[in-house]
Amino acid sequence: MKIFADTADIAAIERLARSGLIDGVTTNPTLIARSGRPFLDVVTEIAALVEGPVSAEVSGTEFDQMMREADILRNLAPNICVKLPLTVDGLRACKQLSSEGTRTNVTLCFSVNQALLAAKAGATFISPFVGRLDDIGLDGTDLLQDIRVIYDNYPELDTHILAASLRTPNHVSAAARIGADAATMPPEVIDKLASHPLTTSGLQMFLKDWAETGQSILPR
Ligand code: G3P
Repeated sequence: MKIFADTADIAAIERLARSGLIDGVTTNPTLIARSGRPFLDVVTEIAALVEGPVSAEVSGTEFDQMMREADILRNLAPNICVKLPLTVDGLRACKQLSSEGTRTNVTLCFSVNQALLAAKAGATFISPFVGRLDDIGLDGTDLLQDIRVIYDNYPELDTHILAASLRTPNHVSAAARIGADAATMPPEVIDKLASHPLTTSGLQMFLKDWAETGQSILPR
């Protein structure tokens, strides 16, 4: 499962890219607003930091504006993936961009039928929002599971499931268990994936015992 950082924080992306833990980045208008910086500058900088896909979302809601914006976004860098809302106009733009060889990420997916339409429109990624379904008392991972089943029923659909709105390590492991192709999450959640209290305490004990040997692996 690919891991994407869901952020527009350049320092966090630099750190994660150096660690080798991320395969790409997703952004959305909220994250861009939080960065307080010009959208096109931020996205261009992010695209230079990672080799994998960088999702950048259009702001228009009508086909013509979406296409004009998508044309600007896809020309920023070769790894830009144009993010489109799951509306009829968004799906139309998805179909057009996909036919032109542009990678797309159809976002704000909350139902299995929406995911089916996005795949038929040739989306590279579908982004089901797990946490936001949990927020209204549903189980967001059920949606991931249902999408996995219907996509597997039709091998001609080659859209990747990008589990989004993941808030906890449990969301991430559930996405992996279901077989999501990718998962996007805030940097803090990526950090939590690597940590375990028994790893921390075990390492402390090893370091203490090693110090007592008085040895050094490196020449002194
Ligand atoms: O980028 C889309 C998604 O991951 C947003 O997550 O936590 O705002 O629902 P959240």
